[in-house]
Amino acid sequence: MLAGKHILLIIGGGIAAFKSLDLIRRLRELGAEVTPVLTRAGEEFVTPLSVSALAGKKVFRDLFDLGDEAEMGHIQLSRVADLLVVAPATADLMAKMAQGHANDLASTLLLATDTPVMIAPAMNVRMWDHSATQRNLERLKQDGITVVGPNEGDMACGEYGPGRMAEPMEIVSAIEAHLSDGPLNGKRILVTSGPTHEPIDPVRYIANRSSGAQGTAIARALAALGAEVIFVTGPADVPPPDGVQVIRVQTAQQMLDAARAALPVDAGIFAAAVADWRVDGASDRKLKKSKDGLPTLSFAENPDILKTISQMEKGRPPLVVGFAAETNDVIDNATAKRARKGCDWIVANDVSPETGIMGGTENAVTLITSDGAEDWPRMNKKAVAEKLAARIAQALG
Ligand code: CTP
Repeated sequence: MLAGKHILLIIGGGIAAFKSLDLIRRLRELGAEVTPVLTRAGEEFVTPLSVSALAGKKVFRDLFDLGDEAEMGHIQLSRVADLLVVAPATADLMAKMAQGHANDLASTLLLATDTPVMIAPAMNVRMWDHSATQRNLERLKQDGITVVGPNEGDMACGEYGPGRMAEPMEIVSAIEAHLSDGPLNGKRILVTSGPTHEPIDPVRYIANRSSGAQGTAIARALAALGAEVIFVTGPADVPPPDGVQVIRVQTAQQMLDAARAALPVDAGIFAAAVADWRVDGASDRKLKKSKDGLPTLSFAENPDILKTISQMEKGRPPLVVGFAAETNDVIDNATAKRARKGCDWIVANDVSPETGIMGGTENAVTLITSDGAEDWPRMNKKAVAEKLAARIAQALG
């Protein structure tokens, strides 16, 4: 898929630099040419020899290396590639990029280029959460830089949280999406999918029967058309598709936070079956049987993710698509839902038991837009996803 593509890979100074060695290997397996650039700090984590051995070519390290200037000036070096990838992108490198510094080879290349840039941030969770880094991140997104990750998890520094660099294959997927020549190439699309789990106590939760099949099929179809897909999924039955950035959440609140963090996007597709309520004051200890009788659960309303994003005053995605599962008066109910939520389209389906749609492989949907209702013939969920992805490509085109 990446045959003939040229990636300039800037390896910053972070423990995640070891993953960049695997990234080089994966990219080359897919046919890409990789020109590596190693920062001074990067050299503390991986050796120039291992980088150049895996890339199969010289690693560029110094701005003032006259030999390199004679072979290829830094301006030219920054422009021969189809994509510049910074992995790991440290807090320091991000700050330099946001400010436009050019005091070493990496920052100079990034400033001198007119080629698209993708970064895979990696840093300690506190550094990631710091308002300075978040400010820089916003700036970089506004500058059109594609951001992959970071993921949440245990970190080398012993802390837990967001800050781990995205896995090499996630970065490869984002690169493939970016360089594909499908109609959604260059478009960034958020898809929510699956159920949410709302805790009662540390071992019990309230859930629903959503399998995540339709949302997964939509994410896959959008990625196949070249979109960069941010797939925010609750605990679904079906595995997430390859080639998308996967963000796993449990609760509606976490899903809203992840959806917000994914912005800006060109479109948001809200296919998740979000729990409308959560248990108010979920216990942080396991509830025990007691002589005093049965426990009483009280509920609090969850945020409506589709409505919140649809009604954002600043940064609303240009296309917002919601779903409606109805058992009667499908068109009337879905049309009212579209107005209530403030989204652009509603994909409505009739889930009354006699249709066999709920939990089945087929779907029969009606697409509600500002132009009215359009019935689609009954087809399998994959075909629904492909038809919807094609419509989205048309609308964003
Ligand atoms: N949705 C959401 N956040 C919620 C609830 C729903 O984002 N807290 C989104 C779903 O992803 C879906 C749409 O809103 O796109 C469904 O709206 P909802 O009001 O839940 O409709 P139904 O599930 O069809 O239920 P009801 O008819 O009871 O409103």
